[in-house]
Order: sequence, then C-alpha cells, then structure tokens
Amino acid sequence: MATPSPSVPLLQMQRISKQFPGVRALDDVSFDLERGEVHVLLGENGAGKSTLMKILSGACGRDAGEILIDGRAVALQSPRDAQALGISTIYQEFNLVPHLSAAANIFLGREPLHGAGVINRRTLLAGAGALLRGLGTRIDPAARVGDLSVAEQQMVEVAKALSIDARILIMDEPTSALTESEIDELFAAIARLTARGVAVIYISHRMEELARVGRRATVMRDGRTVATRALPCPIPELVRLMANRDIAHHFPPPTRTRGVPILQIERLSRPPKLHDVSFTLHRGEILGVAGLLGAGRTELARAIFGADQPDGGCVRLEGRPLRLRAPSDAIRAGIGLVPEDRKRHGFVPGQSVAANLALPQLRRLCRGGVIDRARERSLARRWIDELRIKTAGPSARVLTLSGGNQQKVVLGKWLAAGADVLIVDEPTRGIDVAAKMEIYQLLDRLAGRGAGILMISSELPEVLGMSDRILVMHQGRLQAVLDAREATQERVLHAALGLAS
Ligand SMILES: Nc1ncnc2c1ncn2[C@@H]1O[C@H](COP(=O)(O)OP(=O)(O)OP(=O)(O)O)[C@@H](O)[C@H]1O
Ligand SMILES: [Mg+2]
Repeated sequence: MATPSPSVPLLQMQRISKQFPGVRALDDVSFDLERGEVHVLLGENGAGKSTLMKILSGACGRDAGEILIDGRAVALQSPRDAQALGISTIYQEFNLVPHLSAAANIFLGREPLHGAGVINRRTLLAGAGALLRGLGTRIDPAARVGDLSVAEQQMVEVAKALSIDARILIMDEPTSALTESEIDELFAAIARLTARGVAVIYISHRMEELARVGRRATVMRDGRTVATRALPCPIPELVRLMANRDIAHHFPPPTRTRGVPILQIERLSRPPKLHDVSFTLHRGEILGVAGLLGAGRTELARAIFGADQPDGGCVRLEGRPLRLRAPSDAIRAGIGLVPEDRKRHGFVPGQSVAANLALPQLRRLCRGGVIDRARERSLARRWIDELRIKTAGPSARVLTLSGGNQQKVVLGKWLAAGADVLIVDEPTRGIDVAAKMEIYQLLDRLAGRGAGILMISSELPEVLGMSDRILVMHQGRLQAVLDAREATQERVLHAALGLAS
C-alpha cells in the first residue's frame, strides 16, 4: 500500500446526513481530522455530536455522505468495520457488562487464549492491570464492573479503547465523571497517544478544559457544523457559536434569605462510607457538598433519600424524625433526589418524556384512579420549554433523547414536583453551558420559594458560585463547613484533602 500523502487528512467526513423519526439529527455535516491532533467537537445538547460519532464508529448508519480515511472511501457498516480501521470509541453512555470483571470488559471478544481456545485468565488480568495502571488508576482488574464507581467505570472504558490499537480515538464526554486529578491522568494518557500519531475526537461540555487538550474545535448547532477554530479561542466566542445568542456567563446573584431549618441530619452513619455526619439545611438555602471522589457524598445523598439504610443516626424533616425504609418514604415526605448515575437510577428509558416528568407526582395527576393524560402533557410541555429539552415531543421515549437532554428530564421531574428538599448529585454533568445557566436559575428560584437544596458537585466553580454554605467531606466524614463568603477553591480543596483548616 502506498503511504498516503501527508497533506491528505487522516479522516474526512463529507456531507453526512441522518434523519430519525421526527428529527433531522445531521444535515450535510463535514468534518476532518489530522494525524496526531485532538479535535474538539462542541455543541449544545442535541446538536448531533454523538450521532456523528456513532456513524464514524459504525454503530449507526447514515442516510447520505462519504467517509474517507487516508483519502480513500470506506464502508463503515458495523462497529467491526470501524475497529478493523483502527477507530475506537468511548461512549457517553457506558457500554460495559456490569457482572463481568474490569479485565473481561476491556478484552471482551478479544480475550487472550490458551492453545485449546480457553481464555487465559492470567494474561487477561495482567494485560488489563497494565493498562489500568498506565492510566494512573488503582482499579483491580478482577473487580466486577458493577461494583465500581462511575469514575472507575469511565477509566475501564478508556482502558478498553486503548487496548485496541487505535488510530482514531473517539471520546464522548470522557471527563464528565472524573475528578481533577483523574482528568490530569487522562490528559497525560491522551498526550502519550497523540505523540504516537493517534488522532482523538474529543466531545465535552466543560469549556475550561478545551484549550488544555485540543488543537482545533468544531462547533455544531442543530445538526450542522457552524465553524472550526484553532485553540485556544475565547470561550465566549465558542459559546456564541454554539448557542447563536449571548449567554449570561455567571451565577444568579445571592438574593435568597435563609429560612427556618427544614432538614436536620444527626450523626448519620453507614460504615465504611459514612461516619457520624451532622448538619442542618434551611429553607431558602443551597448547601453545597464538596469532596473528592469516594468522600461519601453520594452515600450521604442515598441515605437521606432512603435508598440505603443508615446504621445509625437520624434524619428530621421540620423537626419530625423520618422513617426512611425506601425512596418512596422520602418522596412522600417531599424529598427529591437527582442521582449521580442517572442512566441507572434517574429515568425509565422506554417511557415517554411526559410520563417521566410526571413520575414523582402521579397521585396529583390522577383522576378517579387514571392518569389525566392532558394534564400530564401540559406539565411536560411547560418543562420541555423551561429547560429547553430537545425532543420530538412529550410522547417521545426518553431513550431517543441525547445524553444531555435525558439529564434535563431527570432534573425536570423534581423541579416540576416542587420538592421541599431537593438533593442534586452532580446536577450539570453532561449539560451544555447554556442549559447549565438555566439550571442554576431554576435551583435559585426553587430555593427562593422556600425549598432547601443539597447540591453535590465536583465542579468547584459551581459549588462556590451557587452555595450559601459548603459542606466538605473527606473519607465519609464532615471535614469542614464553610460560609460561601469566606470559601475559596484552595480552602475547599484543603478540607477535601482532609487537612485541618
Ligand atoms: N435513536 C434515536 N432515535 C431518535 N432520535 C434520536 C436518536 N438518537 C439521537 N436522536 C436525536 O438526534 C438529535 C441529536 O442527538 P445527539 O445524541 O447526536 O446529540 P448530542 O450533540 O450528542 O447531545 P448531548 O450533548 O446532549 O449528548 C437529538 O435531537 C436526539 O434526540
Ligand atoms: Mg451526546
């Protein structure tokens, strides 16, 4: 085979179109990729980024357009075709098999064999172990994937992609579930790959990291590519290209007033993840919860929501102790939870957008034991509008929505239910910049109406910008409670690392 001329891009996607029922996901999109570059793909939720990448990875067919690698047209009709061409993907929604080990997932379908066709477990574990360590993680290759945290699963996905000798690596929001230090590890891994000539297509909603990782950025809007820019490029310019309007790039001004205590947590414990946590949440207050991965923040949320049974301690709502044996008890008491792992706990994928939005308030929407569909639809229309959920309509099934729009449905259902206490675990993960600002406004308004909000977040600017007070957790304990006026990134990090203030 002749070596391709270096002036020909590694990859050219030309005039790609894709139609789903009721949605034109891609409309005449062109995109190219040079050898060894990291090319960032940007766009609001539902712009078509994942669809374009699914076409490149052979997971989804196209209605029109051509794909060229080294200047030659390729068929790309299945994920197998893509793999053979050295195209490897990490999807936004994980594709791991939960009951298999990390190692088995990494080498799924490509397991090293003994002579007799039996899987060579030792080689499998050693190979996976080396990949995982190379990424800077300490994940046990024999651990069941279902027992790993979201961030750990993400790392297994990265290792899996790296295990294929990829020339083109597609990363669809790889850092949305990672902490700062894990992001550093990932970027280091990406730098090693690009130095070897691997090209990376990188999708992210975290604007602050783009220039750290990318050489160029292409912006998509409503199924079209609108511009390609060299990086670094001013963020407001990129945001304007994405949204086609100016976006207020700041947090709502602090005008809320703190009311009476609504939720009191007393000595809540669930070893080994949660030890003796006590605090009070007031009406009208947004209480941020910061901490490193594994600090016990999600466990705290689950215990308050009745999803896990604490071994000790008490949860009081307006002074009354609650008996929380299941989430249904919490929901009845007026406590809502937007969980971290929304795919697993947040929504019913096969049901409509309207049904999902109505879920926490079914009783209110029933008349004579049957759901009032008209009210359900009008409720849905309002929240589709308010959160700009991009969907073919209220009756579209949630699984047909883009990742970020699925997140908005989960958030919307609790905002619609008007919970007295709302616990949000990483509320803006996977959400585009414009919608983030809208969600901040909504949380602010909800607190302004007297709700108490517990906001768990790994994004420090968000914790600092939104909270009245900040709880910092470390190894399952409450390490510090900071007043937002005196909190800084450094002080929060200091406490998150377990250092005394
Ligand atoms: N299987 C499907 N059936 C119907 N519509 C779909 C399907 N997959 C995607 N769509 C629609 O195509 C459009 C583009 O979706 P896509 O997932 O590509 O967006 P995205 O840019 O990746 O967004 P996000 O940032 O939220 O992940 C959306 O309107 C989505 O609802
Ligand atoms: Mg997507």
